[in-house]
Amino acid sequence: MRIDVLTIFPDLIEHYAGSAMVGRARAAGVLDLRVHDLRSLAPGPHRSVDDSPFGGGAGMVLAPGPIVATVDAVQPCRPIFLLSPAGRRVDQQVVEEIAALGPPAGQGFSLLCGRYEGVDQRIADHVVDGELSIGDLVLAGGELAALVVVEAVTRLLPGALGNEGSVADESFTEGLLEYPQYTRPAVFQGWAVPSVLLSGDHGRVARWRRAMALRRTMERRPDLIAARGGLSADEHALVDEILAAEAAEAAEAAEAAEAAEAAEAAEAAEAAEAADTADTAGGLQAAPSGTVGPLADVASDGGRRGHGLPRDSR
Ligand SMILES: C[S@@+](CC[C@H](N)C(=O)[O-])C[C@H]1O[C@@H](n2cnc3c(N)ncnc32)[C@H](O)[C@@H]1O
Repeated sequence: MRIDVLTIFPDLIEHYAGSAMVGRARAAGVLDLRVHDLRSLAPGPHRSVDDSPFGGGAGMVLAPGPIVATVDAVQPCRPIFLLSPAGRRVDQQVVEEIAALGPPAGQGFSLLCGRYEGVDQRIADHVVDGELSIGDLVLAGGELAALVVVEAVTRLLPGALGNEGSVADESFTEGLLEYPQYTRPAVFQGWAVPSVLLSGDHGRVARWRRAMALRRTMERRPDLIAARGGLSADEHALVDEILAAEAAEAAEAAEAAEAAEAAEAAEAAEAAEAADTADTAGGLQAAPSGTVGPLADVASDGGRRGHGLPRDSR
């Protein structure tokens, strides 16, 4: 897959795209990323790429000349997409469409990064083939937006990820958010992973994951559930079944914790009683230092009991 990026900050793109997954994809020849500096063909000693807006107003606008000169010179892959807040909103479906522009169907695509107040409208009207937005927010330039597209597309390319299964089984692939993920240790700071994940029963794990994906999407992205026409009767039943099992497990755990707490309290009461008996007996005997009574207590335990501190204060 070839991706051309046209920008006035080529280093921003090169730096990010030189490491991690995108860097590895480039090194492996899965991704042919070509970064073009819009300044290289800009006129004048300062290679100026911008000018003030006609009609007045704040800021500068990227001029059409250097962009067209670069497009003519490097012949970037078509289609060319301008990054713009006014563009088509990028989501996973759009990413899949763009990824399909690569081989075998085509060669790839290009991304044009705006800066300042944006790009002269004639570029949008006559030079590029489409516009992409990464959301209802305004960045200072198109480079980060371009990198979002480059990375999201690259991870869909065969050979880009170590584990191809990662792509098949994650958020948005089926119009759902992904189920929660856990790794070792099984209990961290008292937080245990759901026991089903330790069961070794692949069927149960798959059903649990499906139910969690459905539940999470219902709770956080009801729009995605609506877009897929709601839940089927089987999906409703699955969610209900898994939630009931989860509630039963939580109740069991709470009961066990309560029992453990009660046992601990009984043990502590017993120990305190034993200590009181020993204190009473000890108070009548001479302490090793020769001190007697309550002072002997303070001397022998550092004063903890004398100050009413619990023995096992955590
Ligand atoms: C400061 S922005 C220009 C914003 C423009 N004046 C407006 O109000 O729509 C400069 C450049 O950042 C890029 N950019 C900013 N926000 C973006 C977004 N949400 N999606 C894609 N590109 C964006 C575009 O390339 C844009 O030309």
